[in-house]
Amino acid sequence: MDLAPRPERPAYTDLDRPPLQARALTRAILAAPPWREVHVLQSVASTNDLAVTAARAGQAEGMVVVAEHQTGGRGRLDRQWVSPPRAGLTFTVLLRPGVAPAVRPWLPMLLAACAAEAVSARCDLDVSLKWPNDLLVGGRKVGGVLAESTGDAVVVGIGINVSTRSDELPRDDATSLSLETARPVDRGPLLLALLRAMGSAYVHWNGDAEAARSRYLERCDTVGRAVSVLLPGNAVLAGEATDVDATGRLVVTAPDGVTTAVSAGDVVHVRPA
Ligand code: BTN
Repeated sequence: MDLAPRPERPAYTDLDRPPLQARALTRAILAAPPWREVHVLQSVASTNDLAVTAARAGQAEGMVVVAEHQTGGRGRLDRQWVSPPRAGLTFTVLLRPGVAPAVRPWLPMLLAACAAEAVSARCDLDVSLKWPNDLLVGGRKVGGVLAESTGDAVVVGIGINVSTRSDELPRDDATSLSLETARPVDRGPLLLALLRAMGSAYVHWNGDAEAARSRYLERCDTVGRAVSVLLPGNAVLAGEATDVDATGRLVVTAPDGVTTAVSAGDVVHVRPA
C-alpha cells in the first residue's frame, strides 16, 4: 500500500480550512496507546478501503489514516459520505481486538460513545448518539461511524462535519460543528482529543459487553423515543425504542406490545415517547 510521505504543507486556498500536520499529530499521539502513526493523505477514495487493504497485508493495530478529501467516502447501509476538502475529519483506525467475536459489535458503539464524549467536551456541545452510532447535535447529524471487519482486524471509520457550511451539507437533517458552535473549530486538536478518548477506552476494554453497553447508553438518545426504523429490504418498523440489548441490537416495542430486536436499519427519531 502506498503511504509514501506527502508534503507536510500543501498549498491551500481556503484560509478557514488549514491542512492537518501528520508529523505533529504522530508526535502528539505516540504517548496515547494503541496509536502508532497518523498518515494524512490529501485525497483517497475511502480511508476505510485503505485500512482494510492494510489490515489484509498484515499491518499492526494502531494505524490511523486521515484523508483531507475522500472521493468515494462510504457510509452505513451503502450510502455515501461526502465532505468538501478539509471541511471535516474523515479518518479510520485499524484495531485487532483480542475479544470474543460475539462482543465485537460493541467496539464501534463504544468508540462512537467516546467520540461523542470527546466532541462534547472539546466543542462545549451536547453530542448524543442515534442508534447505532450517528453523532447528533440538536437532533441533526454531525458525524457517523462505519466499522468493517477483516480476519481478526476491525477498521473503524469516522466522519465528522467540522467547518461544513449549510449549502455544502448533503442533507437537511445534517449539521457541522462550526454551525452549531458559531465559531471556527480547529481540526488538529479535535482529532487528537478523539484519538486519546478512543484509544484509552479501547486499551482498557476487556470485552465486557455490559461495560460498553452502559457507556453507550449514557450517550444514546434513541432509547425512550418513538421511532420509525427502515429495515434492510425496505420494511418499516414503528414503535418505541425500549432498549439496546446485550448484543447491541435496538429493541423496538410496537403499539401492540410485540418487541423486535433489530441489528441493522436506519432509525428516524419521531418524537420523545
Ligand atoms: C455513516 O454515518 O453512515 C457512517 C459514515 C462514516 C464515514 C467515514 S469517513 C472516514 C471513513 N471512510 C469512509 O469511507 N467512511 C468512513
